[in-house]
Amino acid sequence: MKKPRGIFIAGNWKMNHGVKETRQFFEQFRRLYDSSSSHLQARLADHSLKAALFAPYLSISAAQGEAHGMPIHIGAQNAHWEKSGAFTGEISGAMLLEHGIKSVLVGHSERRQYFAETDETVRKKTESLIEQGLEVILCIGETRAEREAGQTEAVLLRQLSAVFQSAQSPAVRSLGCGLVLAYEPVWAIGTGLTASPEQAEEAHQIIRRFLSEKLSPEAAEMTVILYGGSVTPQNVTALLQCPNVDGGLVGGASLKPESYIALLHGAVELLPHP
Ligand code: PGA
Repeated sequence: MKKPRGIFIAGNWKMNHGVKETRQFFEQFRRLYDSSSSHLQARLADHSLKAALFAPYLSISAAQGEAHGMPIHIGAQNAHWEKSGAFTGEISGAMLLEHGIKSVLVGHSERRQYFAETDETVRKKTESLIEQGLEVILCIGETRAEREAGQTEAVLLRQLSAVFQSAQSPAVRSLGCGLVLAYEPVWAIGTGLTASPEQAEEAHQIIRRFLSEKLSPEAAEMTVILYGGSVTPQNVTALLQCPNVDGGLVGGASLKPESYIALLHGAVELLPHP
């Protein structure tokens, strides 16, 4: 099976795993990793399989320390667009970079739903964080009501257009390098309802077509697009077999070391043995 952009398995821990649980996770994960197949270790080492965990801020240091020596990237779940200033309760991209964090989620539906993030704040964050050199995983997706009203494509195009406003925007310029997209249908997040491979592929095609028209077919071809929403070790293979699905953004199934490594095992089986 051809995965020209490799496979990216990103775990979103949300507001789970404080320092103690983070240490316990990695203690067990390291044992599983050390005894995993040479194929898995080799594909992680050559980056054709990329693994990341997006931890709560306070657990990031512990996660970085515990992951030392393993090819697991540690990222953050949110950041402000300004570098510093009077923004009580916020963390900036500059602070993440100082801490050795190079990846950040932007526009997760829970941020849009519970913390009043809008297409406009998502655009500001994406542009600023990309300009500062962070890798941004930009999340978009429709609600159940929007899908049932036949508005999935319109919603995705609206959310994308808000960020990719002009061909000069940093987001557009970083396609294929610093920007990863994540299609996360809101109705599938944390619900146990997964988009079918056909639904995921259809949405990913809409996104890739938008990128191709907005910038270039080459940039669209290079851009990694993740699927998120109740991804599990049981359904990951079928989702990753879709030609336009380049990985998963996984909440619940990334919290336990044995299910996170099972996701990596499911993914690596689709990558060629050299
Ligand atoms: P879930 O979460 O895998 O628990 O559905 C996915 C996400 O919100 O990124």
